[in-house]
Amino acid sequence: MATHRFGGSWTERKLNALRDYLVQYQKIFTTNPNAKKLKTIYVDAFAGTGDRDTGEDLRQASLFGYNEDTRGYQEGSVKVALSLEHKFHQYIFIDNKAKHASALHNLVELEFPGLADRCTIEKTDANSWLQNWCLTQAWREQRAVVFLDPYGMDVEWDTIAAIANTKAIDLWVLFPLGIGPSRVLPNQEVPDSKWANRLTKVFGTDEWKSQFYLEGGDVDLFGVKRESVTKIAGVDEILAFFLKRLSAIFEKTVEHPLILLNSKHSPMYALCFAAGNPKGAPIAVRIASHLVRG
Ligand SMILES: C[S@@+](CC[C@H](N)C(=O)[O-])C[C@H]1O[C@@H](n2cnc3c(N)ncnc32)[C@H](O)[C@@H]1O
Repeated sequence: MATHRFGGSWTERKLNALRDYLVQYQKIFTTNPNAKKLKTIYVDAFAGTGDRDTGEDLRQASLFGYNEDTRGYQEGSVKVALSLEHKFHQYIFIDNKAKHASALHNLVELEFPGLADRCTIEKTDANSWLQNWCLTQAWREQRAVVFLDPYGMDVEWDTIAAIANTKAIDLWVLFPLGIGPSRVLPNQEVPDSKWANRLTKVFGTDEWKSQFYLEGGDVDLFGVKRESVTKIAGVDEILAFFLKRLSAIFEKTVEHPLILLNSKHSPMYALCFAAGNPKGAPIAVRIASHLVRG
C-alpha cells in the first residue's frame, strides 16, 4: 500500500461533510424524476491514494502484533465516494503523483472491481485537466460534484471559473486559509514576486494587494518621504475576499464555510461550497449549509 500521511483531526470533519453531501446528492439524482434523467459524475481532482495514514500506531488495539492493518488507516475521499450506496455513473480521480495514481488503480481493481468501468484515473495536473474537461463536456445531459482538496495554494482561480461556467457543477473546495495566503503575506511589505504571482493565480486578480495592504507615506525628520505598506488583512478578511469572488461567479454559495481548526484551535482550512446550476443551487446550498453547520 502506498502510504499517504496528511491532515489531522480536521480531516474527519471535512470527509464527513463530503460523504453526507454525496449521499444527499445521489438521493436526489436517483429519486427526482427530472434529475434521474441526467448522468452524474464525481470528480476528485486532488485524489490522494484512497486511504489516509493517520500516523497513529494502534498496536495496543491488536492482539496479533503490528501489521499494516493496525496502523491508523482511514478512508480517504476516493474510498468515501466509491463506497456510497447510490453510485455515480462516472468517477474521475486525478493526482499528479505517479505513486498515488498507481495506488488508485490498485484500490479500484482490488476493492471496487464492480465499479472499474465507471472509473477514470488521470496522473496529471488537476488545474489544466479540469479547465479543458469543463469546456468540452455536454453539460445539458449531465451534472457533477467536484472536490478540490489540495495541500496548499494549488487550486488556480481559472479552474474555479471554468467549473462555475459549466452551470452544472457543485463544488467543494478546500481553501488553505491559515496555511496559505496568511502565511505568505508579510506585515510591512507586499510579498515577493514568486508569492505575489501565486496569490494572483489563487484569487484570479491582483486586487488582493489593495484589499490586504494599506499604502501610506511618511516624511522623516530630514524631510525625506518614505513609502510604506501595512498588512491590514487577517484570516477573516482573506476568507471574505475569496468568498466574495466565489459568490460573484456561482449561482449560490455557502456563506459560512466549515472552518477546520488544528489541535491548537488555529484555523487551517475553510471548506467552501458553491453551486453552479440555477435550478439545483438553492437546494444544494441549503443541504451544504446544514452540513457545515452540523
Ligand atoms: C490532501 S491530499 C488529497 C487527499 C484526498 N482528497 C483524500 O481525502 O484522501 C492532496 C493530493 O493532491 C495531489 N496533488 C498536489 N498537487 C496536484 C496537482 N496540481 N494536480 C493533481 N494532484 C495534485 C497530491 O499528490 C496529493 O495526493
